[in-house]
Amino acid sequence: MTVKRHALIVGGTKGAGRALAGKWIKEGREISVVSRTAPSGKLGPLAGVHYFQADLSDSKAVKKVVGNVLKRGPIHDLVFFQRFRGEGDSWAGELDATLTATKNVIDAVGTRFGEAAAIVAVGTVITRFVAEGSSLGYHVAKAGLEALVRYYAVSLAKNGVRVNGVSPSTFEKEESREFFRGDVNLAEMYRKVIPLGRIGTADELADVISFLCGPQSSYITGQNIVVDGGFSLVWQESFARRFLLKKK
Ligand SMILES: NC(=O)c1ccc[n+]([C@@H]2O[C@H](COP(=O)([O-])OP(=O)(O)OC[C@H]3O[C@@H](n4cnc5c(N)ncnc54)[C@H](OP(=O)(O)O)[C@@H]3O)[C@@H](O)[C@H]2O)c1
Repeated sequence: MTVKRHALIVGGTKGAGRALAGKWIKEGREISVVSRTAPSGKLGPLAGVHYFQADLSDSKAVKKVVGNVLKRGPIHDLVFFQRFRGEGDSWAGELDATLTATKNVIDAVGTRFGEAAAIVAVGTVITRFVAEGSSLGYHVAKAGLEALVRYYAVSLAKNGVRVNGVSPSTFEKEESREFFRGDVNLAEMYRKVIPLGRIGTADELADVISFLCGPQSSYITGQNIVVDGGFSLVWQESFARRFLLKKK
């Protein structure tokens, strides 16, 4: 009998996490999703997905919720989408939600990963830059996440668990689709600055994560894949020249 792969998607109620949950449930996988709040409104629950509520910034809550998820069977795919969306101190909030929560969840699963297991942590391409509007905590926590990926890739390899990261630039998700598609100036700006000529989507990010969890990437661990249409390859001075000197 083939065992269905069981995925735990942390932050699978919104954005890219929801896109991945939707993709994998259609493929017939067992999906468990953890988030602070239950899916509601336009982003209501997806049929077949099991939802669990816990604030993973609280380490006691982590053990309990991971224990409940494991009652559904060992975890084959573990994907982290959560980011700090709370009130208050963004430094502590980002470090707790991004780093401590991810570490605590991995440790709470411990030896109860399934066969050919894979972990993917979602970071951001801005760890290589300084982005206006994003806090110091966000930059530092996401940079730390890349180190966490490499560390666990080595320490969990003996258990047959691969660990990788993805670093997207801004992407269009279900919630923001109207906004991005409705703004022609923004679309024109992305056409001009991104080598592939457009903003990426949550579904495209989900495809890369699926690859990193699947057999086609069985010899890849500890890596970080940038998913940005080539945006971060362009030297900043090229933009400055093009826009400030009004050159093509
Ligand atoms: N959106 C972009 O353009 C973009 C660009 C680059 C990188 N990224 C990265 O991609 C990832 C996904 O982004 P997104 O915009 O799709 O995220 P999002 O829409 O904000 O969704 C975040 C998910 O994480 C859950 N979550 C947040 N804090 C949590 C906590 N303490 N405990 C448990 N669950 C928690 C949220 O549910 P609750 O609110 O109910 O907890 C939600 O399901 C993030 O890590 C982000 O940094 C996003």
